[in-house]
Amino acid sequence: MIRYRAFTKRYDGRTAVDSLTLEVPAGSVVALLGPNGSGKTTSIKAAAGLLRPDSGDVVLGAERLNALDPRARRACSFLPQRVSFPETLTGREVVDFYRRLREAPADAADRVLKFASLNGAGERPVGTYSGGMVQRLGLAVATLGTTDVLLLDEPTAALDPDGLCAFYGLVEARRRAGGTVFFSSHQLGDIERLADRVAVIVEGKLVAVLSERELAARLADRGVMRVRLAARVGGLLERIRERSPEAVWFGDELVVPGSASTRPAVLDLVRAAGAEIRGLTAQEGRLDAFYRELIGAES
Ligand SMILES: Nc1ncnc2c1ncn2[C@@H]1O[C@H](COP(=O)(O)OP(=O)(O)OP(=O)(O)O)[C@@H](O)[C@H]1O
Ligand SMILES: [Mg+2]
Repeated sequence: MIRYRAFTKRYDGRTAVDSLTLEVPAGSVVALLGPNGSGKTTSIKAAAGLLRPDSGDVVLGAERLNALDPRARRACSFLPQRVSFPETLTGREVVDFYRRLREAPADAADRVLKFASLNGAGERPVGTYSGGMVQRLGLAVATLGTTDVLLLDEPTAALDPDGLCAFYGLVEARRRAGGTVFFSSHQLGDIERLADRVAVIVEGKLVAVLSERELAARLADRGVMRVRLAARVGGLLERIRERSPEAVWFGDELVVPGSASTRPAVLDLVRAAGAEIRGLTAQEGRLDAFYRELIGAES
């Protein structure tokens, strides 16, 4: 588990995180979501014991140790947002160094190198790796031990679809084993796949804690469906507006804002009007608009 209690951090008098209170129970995966500069890295680093709170505290692990207690390091693994390793070491040497540091068994190195799909590149110096490969190596290092708590700062930012799949599998295995995973991300896909709950932080303040389903519903309300027709059909827009008042024509395309749940009924109306559908797209709401709404800013 991880528990933030009124955690506050200031840099040069500016508040980066303002009184964050949040719990990530054991056996759960919580995502930290928020715009650039909102305090995600600061919060995650505090749990990793890498910075001292100005007030409040963070405790973690089964023993609920203060994150600043050196013993807490044994309970957690941390993947930084910007991973870097000595460029002249090979991937395998990096993994082996951290494996010994974490006192993990020798076969753990092979296991994580395989997960990272670095088997081939494991013998090459890290300086020759691509961005995604360095990120995979970082994930491999972060998952060497069997620590209770995984802290991952934007773990998927540089991963390709294969890397993503491997990563999702790894997080799910940790959850099943009763571990605690706290990660930040800008990718809605990660959240949909992994998170039990989503904590949204904006300008240093926790503004919402939602289930993945609640977040999807909130974003869907801001979605828009576009239906391209062979030609406009008279009277159709008026009928659609009874369900989706903001619907408009854009050329031969019907633009229908609103929740995903209203879309089937709108399509029924289109078909009932005898219109020929030439194309159909639907987009869910965007996170930036969602953040603005949460902080009460005008969109
Ligand atoms: N070492 C530092 N010195 C001064 N200010 C800092 C420092 N680290 C972070 N900040 C400031 O604290 C605020 C929060 O930064 P943080 O890195 O936690 O944001 P973030 O949510 O992780 O952003 P991103 O999505 O870009 O990674 C920002 O205003 C940032 O400029
Ligand atoms: Mg960050």
